[in-house]
Amino acid sequence: VRRFVLLVHKVPVSGAFTLNDLAGGAGRMDEVARAVSTAFTLSNDLRHDTQMTVLFPAAGPVGARKITIDGGRIRYLNPDERSTAALLKNALVRSLPIDHAVEASPGMVVAPVADPLAELSGATEGGRALWLTESGADLRTATFDPSDVTAILSDPFDPTPAEEERLRSSSIPQVSVGPRSLRTSQVIDAFHNELDRRVGPPGPPTA
Ligand SMILES: C[S@@+](CC[C@H](N)C(=O)[O-])C[C@H]1O[C@@H](n2cnc3c(N)ncnc32)[C@H](O)[C@@H]1O
Repeated sequence: VRRFVLLVHKVPVSGAFTLNDLAGGAGRMDEVARAVSTAFTLSNDLRHDTQMTVLFPAAGPVGARKITIDGGRIRYLNPDERSTAALLKNALVRSLPIDHAVEASPGMVVAPVADPLAELSGATEGGRALWLTESGADLRTATFDPSDVTAILSDPFDPTPAEEERLRSSSIPQVSVGPRSLRTSQVIDAFHNELDRRVGPPGPPTA
């Protein structure tokens, strides 16, 4: 399984934003949505072996949330960012009045998060996590199991100092997909591509 943990910073966790201003008032939800759709979509298929956790920080009275997306179960996910943003917004809005996890749409579960930094620390445990960062070592020479890996990366805004401290103190490998600072969705594309090459061509469909 390929897992991504995406650290989001400015998207209103209440879901109170318009789909007509994803790059502005929605705190760069355009790029978050593009990252989600890039993580799961292929030309004519979905990446069923991919999972993603999108971590949204608390804002004012609204507590932090996480949206967990399972490529084996996801439905209604299309390659365009607007409809993906709509799915994520719907999940955040659904979660607003409740204090437990709920499947907002098939394969997309939203849940309150009491301590986002503890959630991040949890993702670094188990010896399978990599931190995707511009200053990391070259992905092409990194050693890890491509069929069981968790890649942690940030939305268009760098990790906060507290997030960075958690990531550094976890001592997980820091890995770079290339010499340029890329958009989040581009990093996901490059990462998938390297892992696709390592894993090799997919087998015949099982069902
Ligand atoms: C748009 S970048 C963050 C902002 C960027 N540091 C800047 O100067 O504007 C989004 C995230 O993608 C990841 N990233 C960007 N370029 C990368 C690279 N070459 N290798 C690995 N990760 C990268 C990092 O997780 C980064 O926080």
